[in-house]
Amino acid sequence: MKRKVTKAIFPVAGLGTRFLPATKSVPKEIMTLVDRPLIQYAIDEARAAGIEDFIFVTSRGKSALEDYFDLAPDLETSLEKSGKTELLRMLRATNMESGAIAYLRQHKALGLGHAVSCAAKLIGDEPFAVILPDDVIAGDTPCLQQMVEAYAETGGSMVAAMQVAPDKISSYGVLDVAGTDGPIVAVKGMVEKPAPGTAPSNFAAIGRYILTPDVMRNLADIPKGAGGEIQLTDAIASEITQGRDVFGYEFKGERYDCGSKAGFLQATVAFALARADLRDELVAYLRQLDVCAR
Ligand code: UTP
Repeated sequence: MKRKVTKAIFPVAGLGTRFLPATKSVPKEIMTLVDRPLIQYAIDEARAAGIEDFIFVTSRGKSALEDYFDLAPDLETSLEKSGKTELLRMLRATNMESGAIAYLRQHKALGLGHAVSCAAKLIGDEPFAVILPDDVIAGDTPCLQQMVEAYAETGGSMVAAMQVAPDKISSYGVLDVAGTDGPIVAVKGMVEKPAPGTAPSNFAAIGRYILTPDVMRNLADIPKGAGGEIQLTDAIASEITQGRDVFGYEFKGERYDCGSKAGFLQATVAFALARADLRDELVAYLRQLDVCAR
């Protein structure tokens, strides 16, 4: 029987070197797209998909993340007194229930797979989601919700999938595709960061996963992979060699790689243009820059 997915792991223990010097003291996940930290988008997406337990795998220097999810009673009182009800409503919408969040430490940045494996005891014998907050996905139906609905039909393990240009594919975990049925991609193998020219397809794994507890067990056994890190991709690929199903899910939505500076800037512009309170001013500014004409 397929079980409901109610737990999600948010691996946020990476060093975020591409955003130095900011990430010297500001966790990448607290950086804001317009006025919301990346982590808030991830939490909202998880909630929409029915997640009830939120597990953060953190590291040194990430205490601002824990503070972000604390209540802000003084601020709430002040907003209440000054009648700023809309701001108060927005602030309260970010509150998390006591007991819904767990924080774990990954003591050394040994890779995404290792970060996920740190949550093994809290996951137990249940399927679970993994969300990488630096992949921000905008869409009418949140990406993880699309996947949870598809997973209810397929079972197995599922990774969000997106077709990327051949010159970019070597930066991703790549799916070896057995066949497609609408958005469902049957996967017969997976390879992390294949050497240029060797990728088995142009389907890249993006930072949303629904995984079985078997993947967690595989993580405990696999050796270091690409970049000398314990790779989540390798633990999922082991599922296939052990005869269990793995699917890609070609989600509907626009994905922004907010772990990179260019992706973060693109997301900032896109999210600002989508805001009624900012759009006109930003469009006027972009027109004035007239960068496209040069
Ligand atoms: P990245 O590959 O983006 O690495 O990690 P990073 O350290 O965050 O950033 P750069 O490359 O140095 O700029 C992808 C995801 O995996 C998590 C990161 O926090 C991010 O969500 N991660 C990575 C861990 O939690 N632990 C690790 O050891 C590595």
